[in-house]
Amino acid sequence: MAEPFYITTPIYYVNARPHLGHAYTTVAADVVNRFNSMSGSDTFFLTGTDEHGDKIVDAAEKENLSPKAYADMISGLFRDLWPKLNIKYDHFVRTTDHDHMAVVEYVLQKIYDKGDIYFSEYEGLYCVGCERFYMERELVDGKCPDHEKVPERIKESNYFFKMSKYQDWLIDWIKNNPDFIRPERYKNEVLSFLSEPLEDLCISRPKTRLKWGITLPFDENYVTYVWFDALINYISVLSYPDGEKFKKFWPSVQHIVAKDILKPHGIYWPIMLKAAGIETYQHLNVHGYWIVDQSKISKTLGNAVDPESLINTYGLDAFRYFLMRDMVFGLDSNFSEEALVQRINSDLANDLGNLFSRVLSMAHKYFNGIVPGYGSSEEAPLSLEKDAAKAVKTFTKEMERFSFHKGLMAVWKFIGKMNKYVDEKAPWELAKKGDSKELEAVIYNLLEGLRIVSGLIYPVMPDTAKVMQKHLGLELETEKGIPFYSRYLIKTWKRLKPGTNLLNVITLFPRIDVKKDKADSKKVKEKKPGFPAIKPEISMADFSKVDLRVATIIQAEPVPKSKKLLKVEVEMNGKRTVVAGISTSYSPEDIVGKQVIIVANLKPAKLMGVMSQGMILAADDKGLVLATVDRNVKPGTPLS
Ligand code: MSP
Repeated sequence: MAEPFYITTPIYYVNARPHLGHAYTTVAADVVNRFNSMSGSDTFFLTGTDEHGDKIVDAAEKENLSPKAYADMISGLFRDLWPKLNIKYDHFVRTTDHDHMAVVEYVLQKIYDKGDIYFSEYEGLYCVGCERFYMERELVDGKCPDHEKVPERIKESNYFFKMSKYQDWLIDWIKNNPDFIRPERYKNEVLSFLSEPLEDLCISRPKTRLKWGITLPFDENYVTYVWFDALINYISVLSYPDGEKFKKFWPSVQHIVAKDILKPHGIYWPIMLKAAGIETYQHLNVHGYWIVDQSKISKTLGNAVDPESLINTYGLDAFRYFLMRDMVFGLDSNFSEEALVQRINSDLANDLGNLFSRVLSMAHKYFNGIVPGYGSSEEAPLSLEKDAAKAVKTFTKEMERFSFHKGLMAVWKFIGKMNKYVDEKAPWELAKKGDSKELEAVIYNLLEGLRIVSGLIYPVMPDTAKVMQKHLGLELETEKGIPFYSRYLIKTWKRLKPGTNLLNVITLFPRIDVKKDKADSKKVKEKKPGFPAIKPEISMADFSKVDLRVATIIQAEPVPKSKKLLKVEVEMNGKRTVVAGISTSYSPEDIVGKQVIIVANLKPAKLMGVMSQGMILAADDKGLVLATVDRNVKPGTPLS
């Protein structure tokens, strides 16, 4: 029977669009999930969105939307992005799902009945960004270290969870299970936090202050505080307490988070589980931040990087490889497109891509595209096989402990060996000498080595693995979408069959011309190449300041001495004059009678001596094209 394996990402807040930071965690979870599937486990992969709480209400208000409509929209952006990154989750949870809310109520009641939740008045420093109270000692210069904002002082009566009761239990648990939280630095961080007395956790908000949450089953005037709601997603999706999935997958669960949410996952969550009488998780795997301009990538700091633009520019597998190879899991990593291009050119185009096309072309040249035998040459048994076995072993060990960069380094060490092997064996010399037995063995060795590489890279670069396997003539038999040769690579060694037909030679990763890349790099911030970058987001409130109106042009004439400007008189709740830079595309006769769109409340400005009261909108597409309405309307009609 296949071993179960369960992996989760954090559920992301719906107050911001997905960015590179979210993409990293979710790709990492996908890699871990694929790795475990290919090693034979029966896996379950969970991601989703966290939709209750003050900050969602605030963000929705700014957009003039209800919290639910706003959550639907942003949650949809996450859900739409994941398939584009080839992320194959099994379940997408939303904390507004009914099933989830029912389990939250159930767990709250269970802990309340046990006497671990009590009612009390509290005064404390609250950070809306983190959705939690801070102790003075946790602040940096009086500010929340993550959001760099002074927390609000709040005093109110609330429900509290007796975390302090379980402090000693948790310390012992962590000490007795040294890789419960990993890498070690984060285990130490949690232990150091636990060396001071733990405060009880405020788990509620009065409905007078926050309605957007799950009502407490034992007091309908309160909703639950965001962490108590969010963390329970990990069990609610398995239909805790009686679900078959819960029984099957919970004992093998591993979480991935970044260090920003170490405390809720390293302290609150195990204590919640303990209080509810649920076995705690296996491992909490904690990674660092992607950094841009010396700060963590985040929406609040305005330095978000759009993963979709990166894959459009550089390719999906290259992007996934870069994320996994460049970050040392646990440490912070600086993001730059230069580093991404560098990785593509050296590791992918040069080391792997060149080797693949070189070996395939030699197989075509010397053996008509058919996998040769390795017969009785000195090269048999396979001389690269020892190195391959080492690569598989190290890769497996490192992937099991989330050391993705080291796992990939082991594969690239093997690729390096193969490149060296080609140079040392010089198959072209063997061909010249007519040493056909040796030539057969060398080419066989190389093709077999590529088969192993294709199997190993599958979790990180699933598409490339499949392309390589297809060109090596391997059957693309799949189980849960996993290519056969990856699935059994680790447990069963099945060599390439001599006589197999290979497909044509291909370039796996084209080199990126650095000069071209400089021009392209702008695209990362743009949606459509060739157009200016999309401007920074504005709120609905900002947008509603712009007064757009339909106006009818009643007269037009060129502005003297100007090549571009027309002086246009429009009817729009009265007449006004607007100067428009459209005379290279329109003559006065062309436009009289037309209805156009005007920015009616733009501050008047003098252009070539004529006062313009507004601006006419036009698209620039090899010349200007006036924006207009679909059918004539009353002049002055506002647009919304
Ligand atoms: N909703 C909570 C999590 C609840 S889990 C029960 C939350 N959401 S979040 O939208 O803020 O997501 C935080 C997570 O997004 C991080 O833990 C990490 O996985 C990912 N990242 C966000 N920014 C990141 C970086 N700059 N770098 C790396 N990961 C980042 O917290």
